[in-house]
Amino acid sequence: MLLRCFRHFCQEYVIKCKAAVAWEAKKPLSIEIVEVAPPKAHEVRIKITATGVCGTDAYGLSGADPRFKYPIIFGHEGAGIVESVGEGVTVVKPGDKVIPLYVSQCHECENCLNPNTNICTKIRATQQQGLMPDMTSRFTCKGKQVFHFLGCSTFAEYTVCADISVAKIDDNAPLDKVCLIGCAIPTGYGAAINTAEVKPGSTCAVFGLGGVGLSAVMGCKAAGASQIFGIDINKEKFNKAKELGATACLHPQDYDKPISEVLIELTNGGVHNAIECTGNTDVMNSAVQCCRPGWGKAVIIGLAYPGKTLSVIPYKILLGCTITGSMFGGWKSADSVPKLVSDYMMRKLKVDEFISCTLPISKVNEAFDMMHKGNSVRTVLIF
Ligand code: APR
Ligand code: ZN
Ligand code: ZN
Repeated sequence: MLLRCFRHFCQEYVIKCKAAVAWEAKKPLSIEIVEVAPPKAHEVRIKITATGVCGTDAYGLSGADPRFKYPIIFGHEGAGIVESVGEGVTVVKPGDKVIPLYVSQCHECENCLNPNTNICTKIRATQQQGLMPDMTSRFTCKGKQVFHFLGCSTFAEYTVCADISVAKIDDNAPLDKVCLIGCAIPTGYGAAINTAEVKPGSTCAVFGLGGVGLSAVMGCKAAGASQIFGIDINKEKFNKAKELGATACLHPQDYDKPISEVLIELTNGGVHNAIECTGNTDVMNSAVQCCRPGWGKAVIIGLAYPGKTLSVIPYKILLGCTITGSMFGGWKSADSVPKLVSDYMMRKLKVDEFISCTLPISKVNEAFDMMHKGNSVRTVLIF
């Protein structure tokens, strides 16, 4: 009875805590005290302990995508501990270690029931509007409603997620490491394993060697690729790429012909799998171009800015090349994230290698600066 009362009390309680709020696009975030409302039915309030800073947070903050409304709390690569749960929540309980999921898994919608996709549609529409499924926000700051980001908002010390957007993970998992299993690791690793379906002996090209691209390199290696070319305009990324499995690294400006032609020559006809991890549509075109006619497969996982399009030579498709893509590496999120965490705990999956530095949340703007300057793979922010 006492426990039940206590739990009830928690649910009703508005928490005041720290968060990095983006008041407007292209401006530094400010650390504010925000109010976090209790979780409603089928929602979970989580104490976030650590969060990565991803290229997609920078994409959101660039202001180029009008879907993101301000003020907003970014962050979608976090890990934490359940503080309280709303009515009807059965998947987690207070005290559980969890990773918020920006691709939900309801196990009920048409997509969840289909093995060919991981894109759950249950709360996608409200999530894209920066709101909880009941079309309201759980965050306020200085009397203003603050929008959620991708259903996660992990740049807040406490956040509220839908229960279908939460994965319970191993009690012993180090949250300041496994937070990267919230985005970079599964996105790149899954793009290689699940989407590209890299086979033993395949030749692969990974364009963009940030957190996502390096995870793709790791996936190509795990799948047994014979050659893995890492391509980046920043040579500082090459050592890490080689450490994770790249057999050669190329800087496009070192050649007097397009990088796709260089790759076609190096592989006697084109790569079996090209994985694009930059969000740049010219790079996406190169990824398609360098694929081997017949069975080459280009996988696009970078987020392109609105209005940008691809210009693909139709003959390439006619010759049997495939262009595809995936979000969150094609993993059915709630089912797969706990397993990926277990793989990490059993040392079957690398994560620590992706963390360049760990900083307090107050240094969030420095983390963005380091990403833009190319000085870091991933910065983990801790509360
Ligand atoms: N050619 C090759 N590499 C490039 C190019 C280019 N034209 N432009 C950028 N890059 C490299 C950068 O130098 C960097 O190493 O791509 C990498 C991108 O890494 P991050 O900025 O760390 O981004 P990441 O978090 O890995 O995300 C990559 O996926 O989630 C999306 O929106 C995100 O589109 C972004 C992509
Ligand atoms: Zn679903
Ligand atoms: Zn991300």
